[in-house]
Amino acid sequence: MNLRIWAVLALCTLLPSVLAEPGLTRGHSVESGSARRSLVDSFDSLKSRNFFASALRQRSQPEVESLEELASKAEEAEEKRDLTNEAGLVKRDNAVETNQNGSQYIWMLADTYAGETFYDNMTFFSTRDPTNGLVTYVDRDRSFSQNYTYVRDDGVVIMQSDMKSWVPLGGHRESVRIETQKAYTGGLFILDLQRAPWGCAIWPAFWTTAANAFWPRDGEIDILEGVHDNEHNQITWHTNEGCYLDDEGDVWTGELEHPNRTDKGISCIGFIGCGITEWSRASYGPYFEEQGGGILAMKWDDEMIAVWSFFRAAIPPDVTTGMPTPSTWGKPSAVLRNTKCNITQHFRDHVIIFDITFCGDLAGNNYNTAPNCPGTCAERMMDPANFVNASWEINSLKVYEKSPIYATVRSDASPSMAPWLSMLVSSVVVAGLSYSFS
Ligand SMILES: *[C@@H]1O[C@H](CO)[C@@H](O)[C@H](O)[C@H]1NC(C)=O
Ligand SMILES: *[C@@H]1O[C@H](CO)[C@@H](O)[C@H](O)[C@H]1NC(C)=O
Ligand SMILES: *[C@@H]1O[C@H](CO)[C@@H](O)[C@H](O)[C@H]1NC(C)=O
Ligand SMILES: *[C@@H]1O[C@H](CO)[C@@H](O)[C@H](O)[C@H]1NC(C)=O
Ligand SMILES: *[C@@H]1O[C@H](CO)[C@@H](O)[C@H](O)[C@H]1NC(C)=O
Ligand SMILES: *[C@@H]1O[C@H](CO)[C@@H](O)[C@H](O)[C@H]1NC(C)=O
Repeated sequence: MNLRIWAVLALCTLLPSVLAEPGLTRGHSVESGSARRSLVDSFDSLKSRNFFASALRQRSQPEVESLEELASKAEEAEEKRDLTNEAGLVKRDNAVETNQNGSQYIWMLADTYAGETFYDNMTFFSTRDPTNGLVTYVDRDRSFSQNYTYVRDDGVVIMQSDMKSWVPLGGHRESVRIETQKAYTGGLFILDLQRAPWGCAIWPAFWTTAANAFWPRDGEIDILEGVHDNEHNQITWHTNEGCYLDDEGDVWTGELEHPNRTDKGISCIGFIGCGITEWSRASYGPYFEEQGGGILAMKWDDEMIAVWSFFRAAIPPDVTTGMPTPSTWGKPSAVLRNTKCNITQHFRDHVIIFDITFCGDLAGNNYNTAPNCPGTCAERMMDPANFVNASWEINSLKVYEKSPIYATVRSDASPSMAPWLSMLVSSVVVAGLSYSFS
């Protein structure tokens, strides 16, 4: 009993303060980003417009979630949260996760992009849109002077396109594309947002790619992507040759975008890549926004790249408490496993990107398949009133990194281990014991 109380106290008081300690944020050298623009030209040389257009068919929407189903899911999540609060402790032994080889780790917060400093760690991309959008990406000065980017008084980060100017037929609308200065190879990426841009002609994405490689070498991961008034988010991987999506078993909840691209299976090669459409109707667009947005989480290690999305009422409590434990979240919406794709080889050194483009290779080519979008995509571009929803509202983007836990830790933890980690590990171990005794 005493032991148990101690454990609860340790977890409740020690862990959050330890985890929140800013000194624990890992410092990393920031990439210079100088060679980054090579992406623009390589993109053009690789893609063939006709090939792409023919592959873009109107996709059969997966079964649509009813609003009743959404409400009941939210209720379930709410109940879970109540249980958690009553006990004063998240209902699981600890936040320890296990690699396939049996070694253990926890996800530790490494970087937070949020609030007033959000844009400080971003580079503005202001050259031609590689996806041929009817867009002019502006630089940092123009973006702030036009209020395309700013941070609201409540700390919410806003990023939007020009919503005031008329443009001539075929003309470009001003908008924004930003990327992190830091590059990542792996991690747990959690985006908390209230809304993502949507509407006819609008094509936003939250994605990662290798800034300094000849695309698609070193990969691209599209975590949130939608066009027009779609209600289903699309998750896509792009790499060079030799990486396939393994669809054995029932491992994701979404629906395959392009089954059997080649006789070898679902290749992730090139411009089309391998994509999975989310099942939930509240994963993109108006319904997502009506739910108050939510989170998108991408777990990337050498075993898999998996994406989950939760609308606000269904966010798992371990995410809210800052001790994310993906193994408790259930099946991901989409997952690329290492069984038919060497993830280490195909994905590395990614910057994280937010953009809002219009028409172009995707939204332009499939404009006529969007039932509620009038006229042509170029015509849609003219009136600024059509862009009132072309806006990102971001609460935070957090990047967690794996922090290994060593199996034989005692109170006299190894001197090489930081004191906060040994405290963390002992409290986690004791918490585990308390559960097995109760
Ligand atoms: C186990 O796997 C993890 C993640 O892939 C890796 O970092 C670690 O070095 C591996 N440990 C051993 C003992 O192989
Ligand atoms: C963000 O910018 C600050 C100030 O330049 C720097 O100290 C910090 O390391 C940067 N963080 C990231 C994740 O790039
Ligand atoms: C940007 O917002 C500020 C503060 O709300 C306002 O004073 C300014 O006129 C706006 N600038 C433009 C170009 O709309
Ligand atoms: C894809 O290929 C597999 C094996 O060749 C076959 O069993 C399956 O029916 C194909 N699926 C589609 C949608 O063509
Ligand atoms: C995967 O690629 C990495 C890096 O190229 C290589 O070191 C590793 O041996 C490869 N793994 C397999 C199973 O082929
Ligand atoms: C913007 O969003 C609102 C609220 O969902 C909707 O009523 C309106 O039609 C949207 N406007 C455009 C231009 O998409």
